[in-house]
Amino acid sequence: MKRDFISILDVTAGELDFLLSEASRLKSMRREGRATPCLPGKTLAMIFEKSSTRTRISFEVGMAELGGTALFLNAQDLQIGRGEEIRDTARVASRYVSGVMIRAYRHSTIEEFARYATVPVINGLSDLEHPCQILADIMTIKEHFGKTDGIRVGWVGDGDNVCNSLILSSALTGMEVTVATPRGYEPPSRVIDSARSHGGRVTLVGDPESAVRDAHVIVTDTWVSMGTEAERDARLRAFFGYTITAEMIERAAPDAIFMHCLPAHRGQEVTDDVIEGPRSVVFDEAENRLHAQKALLAFLMGG
Ligand code: CP
Ligand code: NVA
Repeated sequence: MKRDFISILDVTAGELDFLLSEASRLKSMRREGRATPCLPGKTLAMIFEKSSTRTRISFEVGMAELGGTALFLNAQDLQIGRGEEIRDTARVASRYVSGVMIRAYRHSTIEEFARYATVPVINGLSDLEHPCQILADIMTIKEHFGKTDGIRVGWVGDGDNVCNSLILSSALTGMEVTVATPRGYEPPSRVIDSARSHGGRVTLVGDPESAVRDAHVIVTDTWVSMGTEAERDARLRAFFGYTITAEMIERAAPDAIFMHCLPAHRGQEVTDDVIEGPRSVVFDEAENRLHAQKALLAFLMGG
């Protein structure tokens, strides 16, 4: 039976622990210059409906380092771009490759692809979730604090795809997530309900102050996610006051870290001094995408 990774809740807490320890092992081996060719002859198709720097590079390099191959496929260049059905593309691709990573506008596109594919399907970001990002973020938090249980995470900004995966992950990690958004930009209630029904601890607040106070991790993301560009002006007005500043960070725990999935917009969701400052772990986060996804690829496609 093939396994997919479309939501962060597609893995159990035990599987998450396994993936994180494999990711650290792969990271150490890479640093020692030792090869880890555990997917020889396997091919990952990577379908992108939207732009990407980290996801594309980390999956492509990751597959190469595991001894396999990755195919970069711009959705516009595939027949999908001319209206070929997702379900047909999914069945065709399954005849050629050992796994598919998709970055799509609509989460339902990835779900439909996975329903018809006979190989594992990985969500490389949708409007609803970004589970690969959160896998790397949890790895980064664990590296920093040695644990996730009881870690207080304050999210300030848009209740977007990255925020949703973070909220859901609280059910696996024991992290306490507090989310501060302007009214109208809260994460969907079904995400909150799902996290809580799986044992996650999540609190929604309006003011950034309540989210950052005593937090171990302060995290944000762009105010204008891919696909929401038409709302840019309204969003910039709505998020006024939600910029992560050095003053805000001072209200967090003394050893707090600042996280951002990138790309960042200095002067909007975060100031330059915070992202460039000593609390910022944003480039460790970006690096951990590689290690965490290699562990995920080996888990799903290793057989
Ligand atoms: N964080 C992230 O997914 O970055 P890319 O959009 O560059 O892949
Ligand atoms: N929320 C952002 C994340 C980019 C990695 C977006 O969807 O554009």
